[in-house]
Amino acid sequence: MLTQLYFDTLRDIIYKNTGIVFEDKKKYFVENRVREHMEELGISSLKDYIFLLKTNKAVLKEFISKITVNETYFYREYYHLKALAKLVQQENFGFPVKVLSIPCSTGEEPYSIAIVLMEVLENPQKFEITGVDIDPHALEHAKKGIYGKRSVSKLPREYLKKYFDQIGPEKWKIKDIVKRRVRFYEGNILDRFFLRSLGKFHYVFCKNLLIYFDDKARIQAINNLYDVMVEGGYLFLGHAESISRASGLFEPVKVEGTIVYRRISEEEEDEW
Ligand SMILES: C[S@@+](CC[C@H](N)C(=O)[O-])C[C@H]1O[C@@H](n2cnc3c(N)ncnc32)[C@H](O)[C@@H]1O
Repeated sequence: MLTQLYFDTLRDIIYKNTGIVFEDKKKYFVENRVREHMEELGISSLKDYIFLLKTNKAVLKEFISKITVNETYFYREYYHLKALAKLVQQENFGFPVKVLSIPCSTGEEPYSIAIVLMEVLENPQKFEITGVDIDPHALEHAKKGIYGKRSVSKLPREYLKKYFDQIGPEKWKIKDIVKRRVRFYEGNILDRFFLRSLGKFHYVFCKNLLIYFDDKARIQAINNLYDVMVEGGYLFLGHAESISRASGLFEPVKVEGTIVYRRISEEEEDEW
């Protein structure tokens, strides 16, 4: 049984390393993951386990991987992909169009973006996609590009046929022509220096992560994304997420019936 004191220590470690806040009602979830991890490591004392988390980076990484929720699938929140297609046709940022998907989890989001851009731009050389996630196991899956029925259930059948090879019963592998357009990196959205090392992007998808953050971490993440976007670039957030009105860095814009956030310029920022 995880005492409140140990739970507080564990959620403090999680928050410091990811920005994710675990509420009291998630104690059971954390407890199960910790138990599983301790069994794997052959450790029976929580005190020793926490000491390891604080002193051994590999153990900490594995713990973070266990508590992250990697739920995702192809063509999730399709209206954003429609809005992206529209913006890519109407904006003129030049080529290649650069898109960041953070967090990208097991790859369904960046590959969905790649499929849309293949359809719209008709030339794989005209775009580059970067996928980032904190969880190395999710990234391994993404790099393999092999998916089951659940992942592809919302993907239109014609694209499944066009952009995947069926490699088994209910198993599909993304074709190299799409795969080659997506690069994956392990990283933390709160790590400003890491993010800056990725260059600048015209479009950023940051979906279904900020809902787990508190205000402080959310503001830090939004500031970091602002730094890696070109002026006038567009930020896509999940349906339950929004930029607080206090943020003068982005302005909401309606595209294809959905709200996306346009990065304002440094001069516009000064006017706020
Ligand atoms: C629910 S998935 C979202 C995937 C995709 N964006 C979507 O909407 O379908 C959340 C992902 O956030 C990742 N994550 C958690 N904290 C992170 C952080 N601080 N930096 C980068 N990725 C993080 C997790 O590993 C997990 O894969």
